[in-house]
Amino acid sequence: MKTLHLIIFSVLYFKGAFAAPLDTSNVTFALSAKSLPCKDQFTQPDAYVQIYSYIKSMGADNSQKQLQVVGSTPYILNDMNPDWSEVFNFMWTRGTGQTWLIKVFDHDHVSSNDLIGSAEVSVDRFLESEGNVKVNLSHGGSITIKRVLPIAFKLSARNLPHRDRYIGSNGISDPYAIISYQDLSDDTEKEIHQTGVLTDNENPTWSDTIEFNKYIPNARQTLHIRLFDRDLFSRDEFLGEAHIKADELTEQSGNVIFPLEKSEGGASIILRMPHRQKELPTETSTDLHLTSSQPIYTPTTPESASTSNEEYIHHYDNEIHDEIPK
Ligand SMILES: *[C@@H]1O[C@H](CO)[C@@H](O)[C@H](O)[C@H]1NC(C)=O
Ligand SMILES: *[C@@H]1O[C@H](CO)[C@@H](O)[C@H](O)[C@H]1NC(C)=O
Repeated sequence: MKTLHLIIFSVLYFKGAFAAPLDTSNVTFALSAKSLPCKDQFTQPDAYVQIYSYIKSMGADNSQKQLQVVGSTPYILNDMNPDWSEVFNFMWTRGTGQTWLIKVFDHDHVSSNDLIGSAEVSVDRFLESEGNVKVNLSHGGSITIKRVLPIAFKLSARNLPHRDRYIGSNGISDPYAIISYQDLSDDTEKEIHQTGVLTDNENPTWSDTIEFNKYIPNARQTLHIRLFDRDLFSRDEFLGEAHIKADELTEQSGNVIFPLEKSEGGASIILRMPHRQKELPTETSTDLHLTSSQPIYTPTTPESASTSNEEYIHHYDNEIHDEIPK
């Protein structure tokens, strides 16, 4: 498995070398922690995280940190190995020494919340390391910063049922699609994208790139794709739907076909995926625990930006297959 990852990374790294290096990047990540310190053997922490960033400059006194809030998580009850579902965005700028300060607290209903550990991570180094980064916390346990890559695809459908029934119509539907997602822990669906309407088209191919940027690996998220027929004179009619596990989608490339459920006549949808979905190793134990005495300003090489989300999407737009099976 390690070798496979290495091969995939080498290929991507090589590809990245051809693309113009980026100087800024919108970095997307999520957090989990392991073996958080417990007050006693019966009580596990109700842990939450606050993340800040600051500019760490080489040789300067960093004791007066200008902290900027990056975000925070809600607390997870009674869990020394919490896995937070929040996805964070951070604007990275090359070579500026941006550093994350991650503070883990134990939520306390009675007294004030207790700090149970903190860690610092250089954002440059996070981007250089190809996968997840695990750092030790100051008072035991560790925190893992997980790279979150978007899922993106283009959508087509085949053999859509004819639903236009008004007089003078040829019967062919005017389809559009609504794409939403659902987290395992949440009953509500959140809309990601709505395509345009393609008039009189039973085999539509939408030009939109549909991007699911809230994807979290192994969080058992589901994508719902529903197709409707736009009707000018009445309510839009439902044409069919597909429910797709996000984790399974990341293992696919090229054209992936799903039958359209609650439809008739063998209708299907086709998700056109980039040819190589980028894979991440589950955990590199690159230990980036940094004490304040260590200089961490490391100007990055151009290649290091090849892993950024923008560049990934950019590759991937070029890679998405335009030939669709009949
Ligand atoms: C970064 O990406 C997220 C999600 O794609 C987006 O919501 C956010 O506005 C972006 N931030 C910037 C500064 O572009
Ligand atoms: C991180 O913590 C683990 C377990 O406590 C320890 O074995 C390891 O040496 C630590 N790494 C560093 C760099 O402190």
